[in-house]
Amino acid sequence: MTTKLWGGRFTESAEQWVDEFGASISFDKELVEEDLAGSIAHVTMLAKCGIITEEEAETIRNGLQTLLKKAQNNELEFKVDFEDIHLNLEKLLTDEVGPVGGKLHTGRSRNDQVATDIHLYMKKQVSAFIEQINQLQTVLLSLAEEHVETILPGYTHLQRAQPVSFAHHLMAYFWMFQRDKERLSDSMKRIDVSPLGAGALAGTTFPIDREYSAQLLGFDDIYHNSLDAVSDRDFLIEFCSNASLVMMHLSRFCEELILWSSQEFQFVEISDSFATGSSMMPQKKNPDMAELIRGKTGRVYGSLVSLLTVLKGLPLAYNKDMQEDKEPLFDAVHTLKGSVAIFTGMLEGLTVKSENMQKAISSDFSNATELADYLVNKNIPFREAHEIVGKLVLTCIQKQMYLLDLPFEEYKSASSCFEEDVYDVLQPKTVVSRRNSAGGTGFEAIRSQLEVAKTKI
Ligand code: ARG
Repeated sequence: MTTKLWGGRFTESAEQWVDEFGASISFDKELVEEDLAGSIAHVTMLAKCGIITEEEAETIRNGLQTLLKKAQNNELEFKVDFEDIHLNLEKLLTDEVGPVGGKLHTGRSRNDQVATDIHLYMKKQVSAFIEQINQLQTVLLSLAEEHVETILPGYTHLQRAQPVSFAHHLMAYFWMFQRDKERLSDSMKRIDVSPLGAGALAGTTFPIDREYSAQLLGFDDIYHNSLDAVSDRDFLIEFCSNASLVMMHLSRFCEELILWSSQEFQFVEISDSFATGSSMMPQKKNPDMAELIRGKTGRVYGSLVSLLTVLKGLPLAYNKDMQEDKEPLFDAVHTLKGSVAIFTGMLEGLTVKSENMQKAISSDFSNATELADYLVNKNIPFREAHEIVGKLVLTCIQKQMYLLDLPFEEYKSASSCFEEDVYDVLQPKTVVSRRNSAGGTGFEAIRSQLEVAKTKI
């Protein structure tokens, strides 16, 4: 029979395979540093409040520091027998400092302990994600600055709609990531709260100072209800939701890179270091990394749904079901981290084939709206102008040409309002450069947009 740290009231031990089913050490060892930090703060608070002596605290703290060093060097050996990170560390601590180690758990439960660990963990991870997204936005911004006057077709329904600046297209993503970053920053308010000292569910009779341990851990606030403190996983769900949005934005961008690097588009080329070949077809260069990010988006959505589902039927307070929060959470964290890093690298090494974008824009009807607007400027009602231009497009299709190739007589016979300057107006560059309404794709509007964007990173 293995000796459990909680074994007092038990007469029989579980079989190994049952222990294995209940254990979380294989994955919650990811929380080792947070668990040790939480314990160091707790023991310091216990001594300050006179619950244990300063000497006892010092011995325990030194033991915890030793474990921290060993953890950082990967020298700690965890065992399934001790179920989870909390009990493994308590065991390793008593091995290190003797029975006084058993005083660490005074006035604390694994329930507030695990909640403290994941709050600390999320605090660290979310700050890192904010930084990572900022990095991605910096790359986007500098690419956009290079491409204000690079023009490509803009699409709706994946049909050519109106030409736009490539910078404008890139900046659309910049703003999506900006909102993602703001959501993550906002979520910090709810992450930066200490559950430590809530006990198993009801608080404790010991004269603890929760504000003090919170302050030692750098938390901004404490939970004001012990039941809530140990039961809350909202902040993890919120993180998975925020992470899902980042992944969704990355995935849409990846989808565009995949399309754009196809033979059909040839608007961009992904650098060799982020592409792969085919084992059979020698000519292939596949945008695997972009596809993988698109694919991995599903995993993060999966984590979000898992957590929502784990929590939805749980009565207060702690239930073992809650151990199931960790694998989806860690998976979401690792997936997001890898995806943002890979995406940023891929974007940095992207070759933009401006000539092909230009070629595309010269062989379509995406300047048709401009022609209608031209007639509106000559005082023709928009509906009527739309009809006239629609007919001209039809004529072009029948004659297999584009609006810029159509002889002037055709324009004249469609409407007496047309003048020779129509050919200047129809130039894709003119079409784009003139859309200077706030937030528009006109070059001036983009330059103002870039100025605002610079203040966000
Ligand atoms: N391994 C557990 C978890 O991750 C820690 C909390 C266990 N608490 C308990 N009362 N069994 O949820």
